[in-house]
Amino acid sequence: ATTVLLDVDTGIDDALALFTAALSNQIDLVGCTVVWGNVDVEQGARNTSEVLQLAGHGDVPIAIGAAGPRNGLPAVFSPEVHGEDGLGGCADTAHVPTLASESAVELLLRLSHEHAGALEIVAVGPLTNLAAALDADPTLPERIRQVTIMGGAALAPGNVSETAEANIWHDPEAAQVVFDAPWELTMVGLDVTMTSLITDEHRARLAAGGAIGRFSDRILDYYLAYYEGFSGERASGNHDALALAVATGLVKTTLSPLVDVHVNCSDGEARGRTVTTLEGAWGQWPEQPGARHRVVMEVEPGFEERMIDLLAS
Ligand code: BDR
Ligand code: CA
Repeated sequence: ATTVLLDVDTGIDDALALFTAALSNQIDLVGCTVVWGNVDVEQGARNTSEVLQLAGHGDVPIAIGAAGPRNGLPAVFSPEVHGEDGLGGCADTAHVPTLASESAVELLLRLSHEHAGALEIVAVGPLTNLAAALDADPTLPERIRQVTIMGGAALAPGNVSETAEANIWHDPEAAQVVFDAPWELTMVGLDVTMTSLITDEHRARLAAGGAIGRFSDRILDYYLAYYEGFSGERASGNHDALALAVATGLVKTTLSPLVDVHVNCSDGEARGRTVTTLEGAWGQWPEQPGARHRVVMEVEPGFEERMIDLLAS
């Protein structure tokens, strides 16, 4: 099993990733750090706690991290996508969260020592916490096996602007710090997460399952309604769980050659865009000597079917 720390802004698709991490016997989830993003960080932590308790993993430490972006400007959340509560109106207001007493940076650094060389970081929200951990300890990358992020779009269009994806757009300055750090980093962006789609047919299978399946069905109703308004179809990207699947080998991938990913940190229209040399004919991407990032260009179809089976079981 892969030793995983999940950095989340729980969120509807984050919840599906958390369920997958909790239920898969190929994943050993050792901690969750929570970042602002889809909702404020306190609500994100409540949601993470509720989801992990439902999955019988209430013992996984959950630590609160950054409340807003690295540049200190006010946080902007995404209630239109995930609901005011982040779980499509389904969060249990009576839930009493169990949270660690340490901060997200403290938990991340502690786990990086306890699992030195083995820890896989999967970050599926804005990258503010990871950048803060690098500030606190620049030697962190030496102890990390790999970082996999859900974020960005190499060739695909953006989802918050024409070119920017939400997680990167929320905190481009933090993302640039994370891309610049000397660790192996794999980017799972909209190029592939919008090819793994969740629909009402999947919801029906979830609804016929146990408590996790029924909860997943309920929260997905809001998510699909948002996507319908956005694209005309009740089909949502399976963003965060796909990044987890890539990181832990649950899905086969076609990777780009090593490239450097740059983040547009301007105040212009392209703010938050991930810029790479992956252009031109598909598959004929140039090698970039000295580059360090991999971008997932394609995933084998069908991961979402296996995920739904797992969540419904
Ligand atoms: C990403 O943005 C968030 O809204 C989702 O949880 C996902 O991590 C998709 O762009
Ligand atoms: Ca997310």
